[in-house]
Amino acid sequence: MILIPSLQRQSRALIKKYVKRKFSASLALQGGEYEMKNPESEEDKVNVTYIDRSGKRIPICGKVGDNAMYLAHRYGIEIEGACEASLACCTCHVYVDEESYDKIPPPTDKEEDMLDMAPLLKPNSRLSCQIILNKDLEGIEMVVPKVTRNFYVDGHVPKPH
Ligand code: FES
Repeated sequence: MILIPSLQRQSRALIKKYVKRKFSASLALQGGEYEMKNPESEEDKVNVTYIDRSGKRIPICGKVGDNAMYLAHRYGIEIEGACEASLACCTCHVYVDEESYDKIPPPTDKEEDMLDMAPLLKPNSRLSCQIILNKDLEGIEMVVPKVTRNFYVDGHVPKPH
């Protein structure tokens, strides 16, 4: 009987340690640093496929906690990310395969607002900087749209000197 509370304490501590490691790792590191690290174990791995503008399929081994936009940057996939994941642009727009789309938490109002500005919007559109990989997203496919729009740059009218 004395062992049970002790075991419970131990498992709680282990869970806390695991969750803290996974989440604080991605939060503490700045834009894309976490995504530069390789998975530490099999249970960390999340296989992802990006499909670039030319239709080329690019399989990548990501990991739990990776931000899909920064992971794409690591491998030179052309997703711009003009606002560095601060939800102030739509240049990280991607189309997510149907099955995975349903496993991603729904977009916030702010993400919806930015998506409304994206050209070639589709029902499966998401901002890749808002997609954080987890084991449920194993096999996720993200298609890079043919065009994106950076409305800060596109809408900028230079002043004459
Ligand atoms: S990088 Fe700007 S919203 Fe994703």
